[in-house]
Amino acid sequence: MTQEAERVNTLLFVKGLIGLIVFIAAIGALITQLQSRKLIPPILRLKPAALLHWHRWSGRVALIGVVLDSVICIEIGLYPVLRRDPRHVIHIILGVLLAGFFLGKVWTVRRKLKWGMKRIIPWGIGVFILQAGVFLSATLFALWARLVGLA
Ligand code: HEM
Repeated sequence: MTQEAERVNTLLFVKGLIGLIVFIAAIGALITQLQSRKLIPPILRLKPAALLHWHRWSGRVALIGVVLDSVICIEIGLYPVLRRDPRHVIHIILGVLLAGFFLGKVWTVRRKLKWGMKRIIPWGIGVFILQAGVFLSATLFALWARLVGLA
């Protein structure tokens, strides 16, 4: 394996690891928020204030991870060989949408913007769905490809 290929492989591994952490944190953020609004039956044995505390912290972990992964993605995206197939195109589109919706949501809750706060439930769920799509089109696909011997 060339040095260049080894470097891309290492970056892909780090990216996948961060992606997994982000996905778990995003599930945590979704559950804590839905439970605190009584939109799902109680799963976690936490008081309302603790649920929101955990929401903010799992959300921040997800946000930092998304930013880190985006930087790695942009770095890897410079390699033409990785830009061709439809999965990568889908991954890139979902990633860009996620960045916009996620940063917009954090901006909205920090500034308490009325327009966004009225729509914060579908917005938060949308952020999660995009996150899941990014994860499915990258990390989960890579794990599956390894398992079935595609990569
Ligand atoms: C039903 C879905 C969701 C709703 C209704 C929702 C709502 C909220 C609200 C109201 C806040 C402000 C909390 C406060 O200041 O006390 C908040 C903060 C935040 N949420 Fe969500 N959220 C949802 C899903 C998510 C998801 C899936 C993520 C991450 C993937 C996330 C990440 C964050 C982050 C990073 C913050 C800001 C923390 C800070 O101020 O530093 N949220 N959310």
